[in-house]
Amino acid sequence: PEVRNGCQELNLSDSVLRQCMEKLRAQIDLGLNPSTREQASVKCYNTYVQDLPTGKEKGQFLALDLGGTNFRVLLITLNGRHFDMQSKIYVVPKEIMLGAGEVLFDHIASCLESFALQHRVAKKNLPLGFTFSFPLNQVGLKSGILTRWTKGFNCANTVGEDVVQMLAKALAKRDSIKIDVVAILNDTTGTLMSCAWKNHNCKVGVILGTGSNACYVEKIKNVIGFDGDTSKPHVIINTEWGAFGDHGELDFIRTPYDKEIDKHSVNPGKQLHEKMISGMYLGELARLLIIKFTKDKVLFGGQINPKLQERWSFLTEYISDIESDPRGVFKQCRNVLGKLNILDPTDQDCSNIRYICESVSRRAAYLASAGVATLINKMDIPSVTVGVDGSLYRFHPHFHNLMHEKIPELCNSSIENLCINLMLSEDGSGRGAALIAASGSENNPE
Ligand code: BG6
Ligand code: GLC
Repeated sequence: PEVRNGCQELNLSDSVLRQCMEKLRAQIDLGLNPSTREQASVKCYNTYVQDLPTGKEKGQFLALDLGGTNFRVLLITLNGRHFDMQSKIYVVPKEIMLGAGEVLFDHIASCLESFALQHRVAKKNLPLGFTFSFPLNQVGLKSGILTRWTKGFNCANTVGEDVVQMLAKALAKRDSIKIDVVAILNDTTGTLMSCAWKNHNCKVGVILGTGSNACYVEKIKNVIGFDGDTSKPHVIINTEWGAFGDHGELDFIRTPYDKEIDKHSVNPGKQLHEKMISGMYLGELARLLIIKFTKDKVLFGGQINPKLQERWSFLTEYISDIESDPRGVFKQCRNVLGKLNILDPTDQDCSNIRYICESVSRRAAYLASAGVATLINKMDIPSVTVGVDGSLYRFHPHFHNLMHEKIPELCNSSIENLCINLMLSEDGSGRGAALIAASGSENNPE
């Protein structure tokens, strides 16, 4: 009971979630208007992507996918309903993630060069779509100003710069390759497009991975001062909802554990919603709760294990492992605790650890659901497919079910015959990058 009581503050009722939704909606409305965007925590950037895939896109494309767990270079062939993708993961060393911007872009260009040479496309001047999963103030399909780094990245001399130009400059140093960067996009946009290629009803893209964010299809008339193609009815908006709460909107539910995580992050005060939801932080949240209950002598007989005292030692994947045990069984739980040198936990300890993990993941899934429901209510359409990607959603045993159940409960009762479908993006965001590159390249005017 002590652990249950102690976790109570992570338990968000529907009425609290509705308050979050109201505040999120208000920030989205501020973000959609350039004259109030400055005040908005949720920036709602225009992506300049105005067409969902037709299925007729054709050609060979290169793509880069930077900002999730893995940095990937991809070669994609689209031909009607046929799709082929080859890709390779390259490492981005920690010192590059936190180093000078020029070094990061040189590294990206060098990986692209070796990939293109290996696949014999180095000189073909292929169109490239760059999935760059950080907040960009886009000024066109192939131009985006970096507004801040998020997750574990923080490179000097890059904020305020155009990311496409930085990449083009790094590519220009290499004579052996000729590549045409035709589009830059967020991973949420890539996910939406990738899923919409398979399911035309996909109108929302969500990432629940290292970070958390969403994009959705908005009507042009709701985007004040829209400077894209006004003859088309829609545009995809990248909300950057990870920054929700940065102006205090979530203070009424943030716990001491959330504040502690923020304090020790590379970006204190920023991305507060993301820090309550995404895979980069959930394990650490669970660890802080475990430490607290151990200090209170409710866990492990009050013995604090040194390994568990290390920051970030409790991985988010441990939460997924622990919650994948059938109820009342603690096989995975003991296995995880063993990795942390906790060798003889009692059944009661294990049951408490599971409860802590469940509380942390349930809160994250509910906050993400509140976000998705806010977008669905805003779009005011009864039937929508939500494309989702990210390691948290992919590997957590209950995240999908928690969201599948919660989203309809939070949607407007006025939307009749609600039909919401959460679709895992099996192929990542690479196909989305190629589809957008297709629309931005000259060979594919449509
Ligand atoms: C991948 C997408 O599948 O998921 C990336 O291709 C995206 O574009 C990533 O950033 C998000 O998940 P994670 O867990 O790797 O951060
Ligand atoms: C962070 C980034 C955002 C990205 C998300 C998921 O929130 O700012 O651009 O979409 O992580 O990767």
